[in-house]
Amino acid sequence: MPTTLLAIESSCDDTSASVLMDGEILSNCVANQDAHRLYGGVVPEVASRAHQINIIPVVDLAIRQAGIKKTDLDAVAFTRGPGLMGSLIVGVAFAKSLALSLNIPLIEVNHMDAHVLAHFAEDPKPKFPFLCLTVSGGHTQIVKVSAPDRMEVLGQTLDDAAGEAFDKTGKLLGLEYPAGPIIDKLAQQGKPVYDFPEPRIPDLDFSFSGLKTSILYFLKEKIKEDPEFIEQHLNDICASVQDRIVSILLKRLRKAARRTGIKEIAIAGGVSANSALRSGLSEMGRKEGWQTYIPKFEYCTDNAAMIAVAGYFKYQAGQFTDQSVQPAARF
Ligand code: KG4
Ligand code: ZN
Repeated sequence: MPTTLLAIESSCDDTSASVLMDGEILSNCVANQDAHRLYGGVVPEVASRAHQINIIPVVDLAIRQAGIKKTDLDAVAFTRGPGLMGSLIVGVAFAKSLALSLNIPLIEVNHMDAHVLAHFAEDPKPKFPFLCLTVSGGHTQIVKVSAPDRMEVLGQTLDDAAGEAFDKTGKLLGLEYPAGPIIDKLAQQGKPVYDFPEPRIPDLDFSFSGLKTSILYFLKEKIKEDPEFIEQHLNDICASVQDRIVSILLKRLRKAARRTGIKEIAIAGGVSANSALRSGLSEMGRKEGWQTYIPKFEYCTDNAAMIAVAGYFKYQAGQFTDQSVQPAARF
């Protein structure tokens, strides 16, 4: 009998459900919440309500697309955290009730671990131990992964996450939320002609709040001279900001690789969808003799397939949770 898992992700503003059978992803459905564009960022209350509206249709669709029946399910995996409490509550409550009604076990998954384990959704898979740079709207970490359940954080951001740096810069430039993909697109038509400072942070940690401040002052100065500065130089500004964020990320990753001697290098999280980061990683990988792993686009941003993959590792190890489990905004 094949093992069939349903996975649910609802940590931020995307409602997602996925079905996995014997390690293979059969469906991965995501309902994005466009409403946040109007507010320039994720509004927790709005996100929570949208999850309540979306969760049943998204789960239904994932089950239908997988060509299975609810009664075929062997377990339900879900994101317990970290994330927004009001968003997590919806996915956790739904997973618990479904598991209870079908009398099948529950598997709790850490959202950050799942971003890393998204690499096991398809081939080629990284070999242990590998390093993973996890870059999203909420986190920026370099993790040493020795096994699916053995991850050590070697460095992380002391303030803003890399995705936040993209999104907050976008706000300064008058772009919609989330600005990361928009900056990526505009940067492709520009050149990195403006030089933003590199933060001086020891070891393998990151900091992006100083960069945001220097961009703010830079723009204020330029606008004083020319009120149309942003409109006229938008592509070059985006290329310069992106270039700096990517160089900060890649230099730290190279330091971690040289220090640990590990040459299996992966990137994960929403920002790993960035085209400059993807090409920069490949180029650095060629120079440094790394084997690099970049997930398929749909497995980079928040999705339930990565929860299913992480859940399947736990299923095989017999690591289940019970009905008393509660969401955890932080760990
Ligand atoms: O992993 P994710 O979907 O959600 C979190 O767990 O945070 O990451 C979302 C973040 C946002 O900050 C978004 O702007 C950024 O990923 N992002 C990008 C790109 N696509 C998404 N940043 C830069 N370039 C992109 N192409
Ligand atoms: Zn995420």
